[in-house]
Amino acid sequence: MAKVIIIGAGGVGRVVAHKCAQVPEVFSEIMLASRTRSKCDEIAKSIPHRTIQTAQVDAENVPELLALLQSFKPDLVINVALPYQDLFIMDACLEAGVHYLDTANYEPKNEAKFEYSWQWAYADKFKEKNLTAILGCGFDPGQTQIYTAYATKHYFDEIHYLDIVDCNGGDHGKAFATNFNPEINIREITQKGKFWKNGDWVKTEPYEIMVPLKYPNIGVRNSYLMYHEELESLVKNFPTLKQARFWMTFGDEYLTHLRVIQNIGMASIEPILYKGVEIVPLQFLKETLPKPESLGKNYTGETSIGCRIKGIKDGKEKTFSIWNNCSHQEAFNETGAQGVSYTTGVPAMLGALMVLTNEWKKPGVFNVEELNPDPFMEKIGSYGLPWQIEENIDLELPY
Ligand SMILES: NC(=O)c1ccc[n+]([C@@H]2O[C@H](COP(=O)([O-])OP(=O)(O)OC[C@H]3O[C@@H](n4cnc5c(N)ncnc54)[C@H](OP(=O)(O)O)[C@@H]3O)[C@@H](O)[C@H]2O)c1
Repeated sequence: MAKVIIIGAGGVGRVVAHKCAQVPEVFSEIMLASRTRSKCDEIAKSIPHRTIQTAQVDAENVPELLALLQSFKPDLVINVALPYQDLFIMDACLEAGVHYLDTANYEPKNEAKFEYSWQWAYADKFKEKNLTAILGCGFDPGQTQIYTAYATKHYFDEIHYLDIVDCNGGDHGKAFATNFNPEINIREITQKGKFWKNGDWVKTEPYEIMVPLKYPNIGVRNSYLMYHEELESLVKNFPTLKQARFWMTFGDEYLTHLRVIQNIGMASIEPILYKGVEIVPLQFLKETLPKPESLGKNYTGETSIGCRIKGIKDGKEKTFSIWNNCSHQEAFNETGAQGVSYTTGVPAMLGALMVLTNEWKKPGVFNVEELNPDPFMEKIGSYGLPWQIEENIDLELPY
């Protein structure tokens, strides 16, 4: 029996609230807090069988956060607001003596920079306070690292090549929309690419390297190499890796829109003056795009995200693939959110459950591959994200 605060009432916050509400034996009291309280109230209303308390909070204001934590007295915060708020929420958790979990690494607002250094620097403080902080417990980052840890523990003696493959084979019927916060998403995918090879990072231009990959139940999709934050912790925690890459599928129509958005300056995070008011073009663009949480209703198709791994078992080279397919429609029918929010929110709820049931409760700051994958893997299927495995198959990737 534990009390949890979910911070952030977007698509992911909705799924986390629904999923926590389904497990009253662990999450006995739930509060949903965000910048706009009406959004929390609307989500709470969509969960009629449980009482979800709601609150307004500015998660960039530590005293305000602290007052909320001290009055509700949660055991754990699930942070599914934006990456900009991570450090403020971690500070408040330390002060209030509350465990912490998020799904995306801290980013400064004025620079699209994806690295764990800021949050890893909190390790000693969390240790001293005997508190647990779990970083990046969505799908990717998150479940992909748990898959890697599970594969390494049970299927390999050493892993050498890791490819995380992320396909959204869904169709929301809009000309252009992002599946999670547009500002965060566009910052991420317009970055230069980067992958790990023989102990160093190799840089690429955005969308420079593409391979067609076949995804179960979806078919072949153009998959582009890009940098993704979990590569940083994976190469640190699995030093036998000779190569680690991340691939994401994009359709031609999506890439054309993105190119135009970049060419006309709307992806810029540099403030400009508009009629005497300072605005950030990307933040303005976000307001004009469809809200990710509005995509669910007519979303068809599935996501397919997993890891393709090559390594050594009993002296022989072997290949291994592990993945989950998630239906946008089924996710929407259950929670009112589309598959990308669902695949993020379910691991976040289960990661919180792992901490609260002592499986992952230890002092310090951890990326999820550092924790025992077994209890998580045992349960994740029954909470909505079953996984499948194939061994000794063609992984279709260039090495
Ligand atoms: N690991 C993964 O697999 C994965 C995948 C997708 C997304 N994510 C992460 O999940 C998080 C949520 O994504 P989403 O799609 O749900 O985004 P979203 O729909 O934009 O929701 C973000 C929520 O945070 C709230 N918020 C923003 N600034 C705040 C502040 N200063 N104080 C309090 N609340 C604030 C927003 O409030 P308003 O409603 O007032 O705007 C909104 O409710 C993001 O960090 C994203 O990077 C992770």
